[in-house]
Amino acid sequence: MRLGSFFAVFGCVACLALAGCKVTPPGKAETAVVQWTKHTVTVGGKHDKNPVQSTPDKIEAGKQTFGFYCVVCHGRDGQNTGVPFAGNMSPPIPSLASKEIQRYSDGQLKWIIENGLSPSGMPAAKGILSDEDIWTIVVFLRHLPPAGSLGEPRTYSGDEYAK
Ligand code: HEC
Repeated sequence: MRLGSFFAVFGCVACLALAGCKVTPPGKAETAVVQWTKHTVTVGGKHDKNPVQSTPDKIEAGKQTFGFYCVVCHGRDGQNTGVPFAGNMSPPIPSLASKEIQRYSDGQLKWIIENGLSPSGMPAAKGILSDEDIWTIVVFLRHLPPAGSLGEPRTYSGDEYAK
């Protein structure tokens, strides 16, 4: 190979590698492949049954537990309300009310919360929340309030250090 063409090829490869590293929103095809893989391969627990009943008490309890830290990324309503960086993560933070997410079984949602989704920004709750806490959150996820109806997480109010 002539030196010139070597550098041309090398340059192209380097450009592609760099482009691959840039944070861009995933395209339609990529999203479809990732969704399929997550729903059928990655995420376990498909047939695990939720032992927590969907009563108003439990929905409220799930909301309170969700408010412990999930709100920082998912908003109080699970629909990213007020979360300034929701669209800047890769992949972006999805609305938990969306069809894609509601399509998971209760057991799969429990698995996602417990194990997180590597290598995205979705952290594992193992060792932080109990099994019952997580199942109770799943009940809340099935009864999310209308988008925006609960306001924004306090942490984004801008007065973190207010006395
Ligand atoms: C640091 C930010 C962050 C926190 C805190 C967080 N999540 Fe997530 N969550 C994400 C991101 C990013 C995704 C998208 C992951 C993906 O699509 O691979 C996600 C996705 C999800 C999903 C959908 C899975 C999917 O296929 O996209 C569920 C359900 C979820 N989170 C629930 C929770 C619950 C419940 C909590 C609290 C116990 C929580 N998350 C805390 C960032 C976060």
